Amino acid sequence: MIDDIDLTDLDVFARGFPHELFTTLRREAPVWFQPPSAHTPGGEGFWVLSRHADVTAAALDAATFSSHRGGARDGGGTLIEDLPSGFAAGVLLNMMDDPRHRHFRKLVTPSVSPRALATMEAELRERTATILDAVAERGSCDLVTDVAAELPLQAIARLLGVPQVDRHRLFGWANATLDYDDRELGQTSAKVQAAQAELFQYGAALLAEKRRCPADDILSAAVHGRIPSDRGGDEPLSELEQQMLFNLLIAAGSETTRNSIALGFAALVEHPEQWRTLRDDRALLPRAVEEMLRWASSTPYNRRTATRDVELRGQTIRAGDKVTLWWASANRDEDVFADPFRFDVRRDPNPHLTFGYGNHFCLGANLARLEMRLVFEGLLERFDAIALDGPIEWTRSNKHTGVRHMPAAFVRRTERPS
Ligand code: HEM
Repeated sequence: MIDDIDLTDLDVFARGFPHELFTTLRREAPVWFQPPSAHTPGGEGFWVLSRHADVTAAALDAATFSSHRGGARDGGGTLIEDLPSGFAAGVLLNMMDDPRHRHFRKLVTPSVSPRALATMEAELRERTATILDAVAERGSCDLVTDVAAELPLQAIARLLGVPQVDRHRLFGWANATLDYDDRELGQTSAKVQAAQAELFQYGAALLAEKRRCPADDILSAAVHGRIPSDRGGDEPLSELEQQMLFNLLIAAGSETTRNSIALGFAALVEHPEQWRTLRDDRALLPRAVEEMLRWASSTPYNRRTATRDVELRGQTIRAGDKVTLWWASANRDEDVFADPFRFDVRRDPNPHLTFGYGNHFCLGANLARLEMRLVFEGLLERFDAIALDGPIEWTRSNKHTGVRHMPAAFVRRTERPS
């Protein structure tokens, strides 16, 4: 029953994304107002867009659907809970509107361009081999901590110029912030506050280092670059913008890709014929990566705030209303994907919205795709079969669909390709 749905009750998301519920919404109430509940932050309801066409249209119309704020609201941002304006909203690259967002993004884009990534590929391939050889040796592992978390962490450390020895500290801090294992939406905890403080301190020291000694990395580009100022001329990013970029990249760069790799792996286990298809035709790997991304949809939604009154499918959204765009639901839209609940490594076309859409399209999409390709290439090279070796433990969050632990086992290839 639609009346019973509460998208802010994290228990609804405690065993993966609630696809059934969104299938109902897409069919019966594609522009739906989630009424306030015991869990909704600030006791405030919000709009829920679940169809591909509406989600893409809203994401493209950033003037009406702001990532920063709208109406008389003080805070805003891209989470259901309001984040303070001037600290997170309006300061984080992903919670900023054009034109400043566009200038900021232009500054850091070259660091993750296909050309820049090409120079990292050989190193990342070697890192992947080390990670996978270690688990091949043992025959089993925790797929999340031993494999899926490792490559994205090593890659983001490399991208940010963070010493590799520190990567697990960063990971622990980011995890504490992103997983709601000890709190409800809009709440914080002593663990979260301590993690945020340590992450902040670490970032501040790292940025100071980049100011003194610029290197060839994304933070140095952010620290030393200049963007057009509102007052004319140009200016550097504020220290807070630089600091929040560091936080954003640690979180965005590690968690989402890890979850896509882990859930992609689980999908291949669940569909062994798809694993075999891929093993027999490796040329399908880029398509398979897109299908794993669609299937996992590791970022379920992002929020916008309406900047003006707007009509959508007969509903009136008012200036200042919260509007959530559910990428994970759009990725199962029956109007766009043939047989959307079939996992198909040959799927083509596959216009999934896993990386978002429009001006905030994921900055790290090329990196995430490369990491996934390397991991699955490595798995296919080494193993005849893959399996789950126990129950998977889901992350409790409506912001990240993912897993904390996934016991996995492998059967090694009897022959390695020459
Ligand atoms: C499979 C992995 C990933 C997924 C599913 C994912 C998902 C997303 C989504 C949905 C958005 C759009 C947010 C919005 O419209 O409000 C986004 C933006 C962003 N992502 Fe990713 N992401 C992934 C990997 C990465 C990586 C590896 C990085 C780091 C290099 C990264 C950095 C960013 C940044 C900086 C933005 C903000 C871009 C902007 O606002 O212009 N992401 N991501």
